[in-house]
Amino acid sequence: MTSIRQNTRCHLVLAACSISLVLVFLGLRTSNYTTPRWGLSQSQQTPQVQNTDIARAGNGTLGFEKVLVLGLKERTDKRDAMILSSSLTGFEVEFVDAVKGEDVLDKARPAGFTMSGGVLGSWRAHINAIRSVLERKLSSVLIMEDDVDWDVRIQSQMPEFAKGVRTVSGVPLTEPQESPYGDDWDILWPGHCGEVGPEKDEPIYIISNDATVAPKEHQPWLKMLKDYPEGTRIVHRGIAPICVFSYAVSRRGAQKLMASLATKTSYDLAFDNQLAFACKDKLLDLKCYSVEPMLFFHHRPAGSINKDSDIAGSKPEDADNIREKGITENIVWSARLNLEKLIAGSRDYVTQW
Ligand SMILES: *[C@@H]1O[C@H](CO)[C@@H](O)[C@H](O)[C@H]1NC(C)=O
Repeated sequence: MTSIRQNTRCHLVLAACSISLVLVFLGLRTSNYTTPRWGLSQSQQTPQVQNTDIARAGNGTLGFEKVLVLGLKERTDKRDAMILSSSLTGFEVEFVDAVKGEDVLDKARPAGFTMSGGVLGSWRAHINAIRSVLERKLSSVLIMEDDVDWDVRIQSQMPEFAKGVRTVSGVPLTEPQESPYGDDWDILWPGHCGEVGPEKDEPIYIISNDATVAPKEHQPWLKMLKDYPEGTRIVHRGIAPICVFSYAVSRRGAQKLMASLATKTSYDLAFDNQLAFACKDKLLDLKCYSVEPMLFFHHRPAGSINKDSDIAGSKPEDADNIREKGITENIVWSARLNLEKLIAGSRDYVTQW
């Protein structure tokens, strides 16, 4: 498939599709130790990036200073799976404890914020993670939810994403930067469940012949891909992605979010919707970049479906509802579904389609 040579096919073009400004929240659905790179033959990898500055995006924290995983301490099952899959695919994570809504004092809410229960707790946990960027003087973090999954080739996908982010944010690929993604972004949003896509005159970056992209017929909700060939991934300004499976925050981004979503209420909504509107409205000149198909998506393990969410309360009837097989939509070689293959060093990966 793709080789270094074909990277030249990645180019900046103007988005041809006309985009509705209306948020189609309902119409969209939906993303250590050493990597077993020996498990991937050259032809199975995404295009390899040569530029060493950008190649840092495939390092042991995916090009960010830390990878933080949000989840309840009590969900040891999710933490076990997260540590195993991240270590087998080449990156390390730190856990940040999720917060229960009832543990957030009324007095501690920003004025005008009326959310309650799991939505309130989720907002607080995300703000805690974002605040840690400033408290710990980190340059950037990638924040993930604890049920998130990715392709076993994540370490070669992230440098391609970084090239896209640099290109659409106007940072030359060869210019030394503190971040491999360039130093002019606030939010990167590689794990969401759908996007409206950029406006007509905005730049997009196209990755062609990417073997890590699932067939279009299995992700029909990604409307932006409709006009492009199979194997296309598109990096663009994040307009209003839904779901926060995985997103990165730079130090500047953390300052902007603390000012607009923590110390005051800009949107009286769930955290993912707040972030989406902040990106869409370019609040405090917030610069957000996103990618379709997404690189991270939530995994649904085999077993009882009431184990899935810790934010939505589980319904009693879900206990009897058993999922036969684990699934992760949008991801070709799911890390979660290939743990044993990765351990065995097998190249015969479980492909979802
Ligand atoms: C990965 O690269 C980022 C950006 O340069 C850096 O902050 C981080 O420390 C690196 N991670 C590792 C494990 O080397």
